[in-house]
Amino acid sequence: MEISGKGLQIGYGEHLVIKELDVTFLSTRITSIIGPNGSGKSTVLKAMTKLLPYKSGVVRLDGRNLADYSSKEWARSVAVLPQIHTAPPDFKVRELVGYGRLPYQKWYEKNGEEDEKIIDWAMKATGVWELREKSINQCSGGESQRVWIATVLTQQPEILFLDEPTTYLDIAHQLEMMQLVKRLNRENGIGIVMVLHDLSQALEVSDWIVVIKDGKKYDEGRPEDVITPKMMKEVYDVECEVVRIPGRATPIIAFKEISA
Ligand SMILES: Nc1ncnc2c1ncn2[C@@H]1O[C@H](COP(=O)(O)OP(=O)(O)O)[C@@H](O)[C@H]1O
Ligand SMILES: [Mg+2]
Repeated sequence: MEISGKGLQIGYGEHLVIKELDVTFLSTRITSIIGPNGSGKSTVLKAMTKLLPYKSGVVRLDGRNLADYSSKEWARSVAVLPQIHTAPPDFKVRELVGYGRLPYQKWYEKNGEEDEKIIDWAMKATGVWELREKSINQCSGGESQRVWIATVLTQQPEILFLDEPTTYLDIAHQLEMMQLVKRLNRENGIGIVMVLHDLSQALEVSDWIVVIKDGKKYDEGRPEDVITPKMMKEVYDVECEVVRIPGRATPIIAFKEISA
């Protein structure tokens, strides 16, 4: 399955943020969207997940126009964890995760046996099963991020959008999140589209990278073709080398600003 945007213009009121964008995300891939703060990454995610209307262009899921889907119907194929998300603090983990099933229910329905199975699966897949009776405000940053991923997973999406899933996490929890993302893609066949700031992580975990600069696509391609000193200079205005290390599958980025 694939989700694509063509000729997209997206903005807020009179302010046009995305000026012109063609992009396609495949469910077989982990795609990372990178680019400076304010370049429009979250805006693209919001438009492609039906959280924000776009001004022109078209978004299609396997050829069918997003405008032809109800929000619930869309949410059964495409899930999103926005950059900022808050839960009522008195929610238990299990309760919050259960709310992810809403797109499958009529307003008068409660979660049935099938729903409960999926909720249990999502909690196990993200390693929050042990936390299920805990209140969400007793969870650490890393735990609560995994609880949110469990919540969106119960939508059983074919493509999952994650906006900066590792921001505010320490390095061990960042790596844990990257492993989880990789497992969801490789073992569960869920397409991942995520905004990442750590370019070394993007290099390591992504199959495809899209670079956004000033509301436009600067480049896209395989990680090692896209993350180059030239791109880093033109997009982020930093000097770096992309260094190969024997025994490592992917190179790392060494910044001149820091080592000078
Ligand atoms: N809700 C909003 N209302 C008005 N302007 C916004 C809103 N959200 C983002 N913007 C503006 O859109 C631009 C791109 O923002 P965003 O997509 O959040 O960037 P990124 O995620 O790449 O950091 C910025 O100039 C930002 O100020
Ligand atoms: Mg953002």
